Amino acid sequence: MEDFSDKVVYQIYPKSFRDTNGDGFGDISGITEKLDYLQELGVDYLWLTPFFPSPQRDNGYDVADYRKINPKFGTMEELENLIRKSEERGIKIMLDMVFNHTSTQHEWFQKAQKGDENYQKYYIFKEGTPDHVPTNWKSKFGGSAWEYIPKLKKWYLHLYDVTQADLNWDNPKVREELKEILRFWKEKGIKAFRFDVINLVSKPEQMEDDFEGDGRRFYSDGPHIHEYLKELVSDAGIEDFITVGEMSSTSLEHCIRYSAPKEKELSMCFNFHHLKVDYKDGNKWALKDVDYKKLKKLFIEWQIGMQQGDGWNTLFWCNHDQPRIVSRMGDEGIYWKESAKMLAGMIHFMRGTPYIYQGEEIGMLNAHYPSIEQYRDIESLNYYQILLENGKTKKEALEILAARSRDNSRTPMQWNKEKYGGFSKEEPWIPMSAEFRKEITVEAQQNDKNSILTFYKKLVAMRKKYPVIAKGKISFLETETDMVLAYQRIFQEQQIVVFCNLGRKEQNIKIPKEQSSWEILLENYEGRKIPFEERYTMKPYEIMVLGKI
Ligand code: NOJ
Repeated sequence: MEDFSDKVVYQIYPKSFRDTNGDGFGDISGITEKLDYLQELGVDYLWLTPFFPSPQRDNGYDVADYRKINPKFGTMEELENLIRKSEERGIKIMLDMVFNHTSTQHEWFQKAQKGDENYQKYYIFKEGTPDHVPTNWKSKFGGSAWEYIPKLKKWYLHLYDVTQADLNWDNPKVREELKEILRFWKEKGIKAFRFDVINLVSKPEQMEDDFEGDGRRFYSDGPHIHEYLKELVSDAGIEDFITVGEMSSTSLEHCIRYSAPKEKELSMCFNFHHLKVDYKDGNKWALKDVDYKKLKKLFIEWQIGMQQGDGWNTLFWCNHDQPRIVSRMGDEGIYWKESAKMLAGMIHFMRGTPYIYQGEEIGMLNAHYPSIEQYRDIESLNYYQILLENGKTKKEALEILAARSRDNSRTPMQWNKEKYGGFSKEEPWIPMSAEFRKEITVEAQQNDKNSILTFYKKLVAMRKKYPVIAKGKISFLETETDMVLAYQRIFQEQQIVVFCNLGRKEQNIKIPKEQSSWEILLENYEGRKIPFEERYTMKPYEIMVLGKI
């Protein structure tokens, strides 16, 4: 496998990126139209979230046919054109493979439902009576993880929505089908894959009630997961591809195994521990302030642990499932720009592959929807009801959604100051963010040398320019407070140190004497001087990157 340590991935949620045919729904041609923009940003791979035929109950993560394109997004010719045009610019396409489950509209499930036992073995069916659910496991979108089909007198497992039936990976036929799908896309010129919740696919043979949680401890990083991944990657002939696995509630030990080159499983993993530091008692739907001590501890643990085990991290704050990071850990007001830059820099200089989610590079903010009618996401709509049933008032439930909903990241991309942000001429499928301000657009930031967008361009370019960022060894520096994160990277003669003030208060740090003569490679306040004094006062959300280059 060729070295991918200096590559950067840009994630596109096609539905909300750019609509070229005026139906309020983003499309593949919209991505092609923006290739110059993406090339200028400097990214190497485009991860496209699913655009396959789908009833869109979960915005495409409910796939009805893995080899076709949902006409709402475009045609196969348009995709081939996108692949070609991207290649011309040195950009490769990463597809999103949802292999833990299919939509119940998928032909396999349809046949299973009609009584075909061969296809029933593609899924996890359990015989039973309607009054006796096989286990007490919970769906991640709320409610039971089992659904009963009276005609079959069987239950089927769905860890997500009732229309997303879990596949049975213990059936070799299923694994063969999935390999075939990968080969199909490889032929089309796809060069990378992201695997959706891939660490959930190996279920235990005996399924039992969970009296401590929702069942996840039985199926996350399940019994045959490593074996299945090795098989999938080698049989599909994608050992040379960049492959990234989305790992739900995983562990460091497993992620080392998933991503260490010698294991020949995946190139890298997403884990979400650092994005749960504002969950109260681990509950996404209960609000709490960010626990910075925990955040720092997690970064240190995962960065050092993965390095020791020769695993490889992804570096990300945002995706289509997460609220916008500036709203969450930065400042939407006067330090909007500074905090967006600091948060970006904080992870881009770490050891791993950075992922930029559309709109993050211009500092987009949460949706701030005032009413439930504006929400689209199935998880948010379900949990709104659950919160009300649990005694929250509508106002409280909306406050929780405003902080936690996945729709926060799915609002239309803000290209310019037109009514719908240049995303579409027509009303988008989901409303614009209420924080759609004229300065939070590509147009406004494109030619501004101090913009967030320009800062992201620098981050991408620096990774390519200084091998220490891609390949350096990382170590963390002691700081007197949890509100400062500082680390060092070393590669051959090159060294950098990164200091981040995570909050709104000024912080004093000590800069070792030798480093105070290094060059400032990057900072988010204009005109800061090289800190000759040992003591240096960091401004709110300041990031300072010093280098001996
Ligand atoms: C993770 C995806 O990122 C999310 O959007 C989806 O709802 C679940 N997996 C289920 O496929």
